[in-house]
Amino acid sequence: MLADRILGVARSPFYSIMELAASRDDCIYLQLGEPDFVTPGHIAEAAKKALDEGHTHYGPDRGAPELRQLIAQKLQNESSADYGWEDEILVTAGGQAALHIAIMAMANPGDEIIILLPHYPPYVVNAQLSGAKAVYVKLKSEDGFVPDPAAIEEVITDKTKIIIVLTPNNPTGSVYPEETLQGILDLAKKHNIVLISDEVYETLVFDGAEHKSLVSLPGAKDHVVQVNSFSKTYAMTGLRVGYLAAPADKVLQFLKYHHTVNISANVPSQRACITALKGPQDCVEEMRLAYLERRDMLLERLNDIPGIHCQTPQGTFFAFADIRELGIPSLEFAEYLVKEAGVVLTNGSGFDYEGFIRLSYAADPSDIEEAMDRMKAAVLKMPEVLKK
Ligand SMILES: Cc1ncc(COP(=O)(O)O)c(C=O)c1O
Repeated sequence: MLADRILGVARSPFYSIMELAASRDDCIYLQLGEPDFVTPGHIAEAAKKALDEGHTHYGPDRGAPELRQLIAQKLQNESSADYGWEDEILVTAGGQAALHIAIMAMANPGDEIIILLPHYPPYVVNAQLSGAKAVYVKLKSEDGFVPDPAAIEEVITDKTKIIIVLTPNNPTGSVYPEETLQGILDLAKKHNIVLISDEVYETLVFDGAEHKSLVSLPGAKDHVVQVNSFSKTYAMTGLRVGYLAAPADKVLQFLKYHHTVNISANVPSQRACITALKGPQDCVEEMRLAYLERRDMLLERLNDIPGIHCQTPQGTFFAFADIRELGIPSLEFAEYLVKEAGVVLTNGSGFDYEGFIRLSYAADPSDIEEAMDRMKAAVLKMPEVLKK
């Protein structure tokens, strides 16, 4: 009774860890991809006010005009990129919907979509749902998980339609330098490929690293579809608002898909986004600094565990740690940590990258401390470690 297109999609490997974790009531969760901060008060208030004022009906399908104007202004201010608010911005139900819409609207069955490993798993699911083939390029930890455009070019064929670029990156935390983005854009121009630029972690950069948007590069607009979101920047994942920025002819086609699935994005939430963009940005900086402190604490403790090595991530709230020395598959290690220590994190194999684990430091600092204590004790008990 069900369609092959959905039956062909594997269930996320994260569920098995979550199910295992549900069997204990003392778990510390370092696996979540969402801010643990409360949504800033003025933003939440705007959503409440919208409800009280009766903004509970369908909105314009492309998104609230004021919000689209603010997004276009943001693109201009931050990236010197010209996007028309009327027809080049589409407000969606989160970055997740934006990704789905862009891929479903652009990829034909048989097309190839280049995805860098480790990946954000929904990229692959979207490729599968569209009938396109995911083509992988494995990034190297010794390169800081920053892609080499020449390695990407090696897998380009006449079927390549899309390359997905994600910086700052989930799960690695790497931030791509401008020359890397320029190199990828040059490939897009040379081979007539579209770049889906997922920038949902754009404000979460550290140590002087700068987030450079692909759309800020000269001549990028015709080759880039920007996916963005309010979720991470303003700790408002549950309000479900993101957007697409692209040339008008693409947005017109994206709109067909968006209208069919959502009609419009959540109207009170869009009011919250207007307030977020118009209001003070101190909350964004405060959260960033808090993540930075947690990152440093996590990294110090993590690198003190035998057999685990982690480079310092320059962005997001994820650390991607090398566990190859431990000599066990990442899923097995993640399961062991839940059972032995009640620490929940994500196996690298879930991102198609064996030998690594992802830890989220969007968690309470005392929980991070406790998790690191438990993790170290658990690792020290491993026969693989005891042998050494
Ligand atoms: C890389 C990446 N892109 C997109 C999303 C989607 O976020 P949202 O739909 O909340 O905007 C996420 C969420 O975790 C993500 O990690």
